[in-house]
Amino acid sequence: INQGNGVKGLSELGLRALPKHYIQPVGERIDVNKIITNESIPIIDMSNWEDPSVADSICDAAEKWGFFQIINHGVPLEVLDNVQGATHRFFGLPAEDKNKYSKDHSPSNSVRFGTSFSPQAEKALEWKDYLSLFYVSEEEAAALWPPACRDEVLEFMKGSEVVIKQLLQVLMKRLNVNEIDGTKKSLLMGSVRVNLNYYPVCPNPELTVGVGRHSDVSTLTILLQDEIGGLYVKGHQGEDSWIHVPPIKGSLVINVGDALQILSNGQYKSIEHRVIANASKNRISVPIFVNPRPSDMIGPLPEVLANGEKPIYKQVLYSDYVKHFFRKAHDGKGTVEFAK
Ligand code: SIN
Ligand code: FE2
Repeated sequence: INQGNGVKGLSELGLRALPKHYIQPVGERIDVNKIITNESIPIIDMSNWEDPSVADSICDAAEKWGFFQIINHGVPLEVLDNVQGATHRFFGLPAEDKNKYSKDHSPSNSVRFGTSFSPQAEKALEWKDYLSLFYVSEEEAAALWPPACRDEVLEFMKGSEVVIKQLLQVLMKRLNVNEIDGTKKSLLMGSVRVNLNYYPVCPNPELTVGVGRHSDVSTLTILLQDEIGGLYVKGHQGEDSWIHVPPIKGSLVINVGDALQILSNGQYKSIEHRVIANASKNRISVPIFVNPRPSDMIGPLPEVLANGEKPIYKQVLYSDYVKHFFRKAHDGKGTVEFAK
């Protein structure tokens, strides 16, 4: 019925009720009446990132919350605005232009337009369309990424490299890793994927999710969200405590992914999060996933184990870890069991 225009196509039919495939089990929905409002994730000013007190607040946030927002991070506002504009432009293309990048038509595995997360594996679908771009090379991006958003995505990716390195440098220092080069560089930032997420207006946001409970498989994720809100992070007040991540113009949301949790032997926390769609507005977000290389073996770093602590995780091939994540529906922290 939606002629391959994803959830956006469904949304534009002006449905009064959510199609049943999108109705999530009660336990997977967010009860907005239960949202925790007396706690929030830290906001960190990166202008003096080398200052020991700033470095401490970054590491403390990564240990306690796994999530924080950064301001004065050095990525120009214009770059952020441009990639948001490009995201709206891409999803606004006619269905046939977007479907050139769908699973069956895409010229490359590293470029993928899709809907929900893993429709074959899901009992209930997620209210989201996406474009996922795995960076291989400048040449491949120039040749294969959609012209509607290619340059802006590359600009955002490159513009955030400096702050990504600053964050990793600070986080590694607390783990007694003083240099990020060679093998370390590969493990921490050997590959990059950028997603453009589109959450169309939803007739019954309370019955479904934009994205279900999951933790990221990255080392770090750098997320640009728009002004609409809807991202919730698991808090510290029990199994069912969720905290909203309020949009702050010009900020970036940083979160620890599973790979960094594993490399740090559990010291830095990859925290569950999820997204609720909106009843009146189309929301977009643009995460950059900074990852190990697919061919890397990941496991607790020797520097972390040097004090004699026992490894909680075994060594796993990163591409196997990622494959495992994509084979199943979103299931909270389920993927990390793969490394135990
Ligand atoms: C995600 O975590 O998959 C998306 C986050 C967001 O859209 O805010
Ligand atoms: Fe995520």
